[in-house]
Amino acid sequence: MRNSKNIVRAMALAFLTSGLLAGSPTLAAGNDKAKKADRPDPMQVVRGAKAWKNNCGRCHNLRSPKELTDEEWDVSVSHMRIRANLLALEAEDIKAFLKASN
Ligand code: HEC
Repeated sequence: MRNSKNIVRAMALAFLTSGLLAGSPTLAAGNDKAKKADRPDPMQVVRGAKAWKNNCGRCHNLRSPKELTDEEWDVSVSHMRIRANLLALEAEDIKAFLKASN
């Protein structure tokens, strides 16, 4: 479990730093795993990483995913979603990223 989270986080960070998305063999391989229950969807985590970077540092410094637990992120992102005027889907993506990275 811990390990699969690390893989997803590494992919999300690789995406953020490289800007590469299409045709990545790593992402294609990750998609197979996402079909199994209770694994994060890698594409959702990647979208969430982007939305987090673009939105969650607008009013304060970006909070590290490690600052809060999964349950705390549920509460905090619901709260911040209203402040930041995010779509429900964007908030879900951001939560998936934060939970995969904490
Ligand atoms: C429109 C401005 C704004 C945006 C955008 C915003 N925040 Fe905040 N955030 C605040 C303010 C103001 C506070 C402190 C007061 C409060 O808690 O409402 C805060 C507090 C926090 C806190 C600490 C306390 C708490 O309420 O959980 C966390 C964690 C946090 N933000 C995360 C995020 C994340 C993640 C995002 C992106 C989804 C985000 N913020 C986007 C304004 C914003």
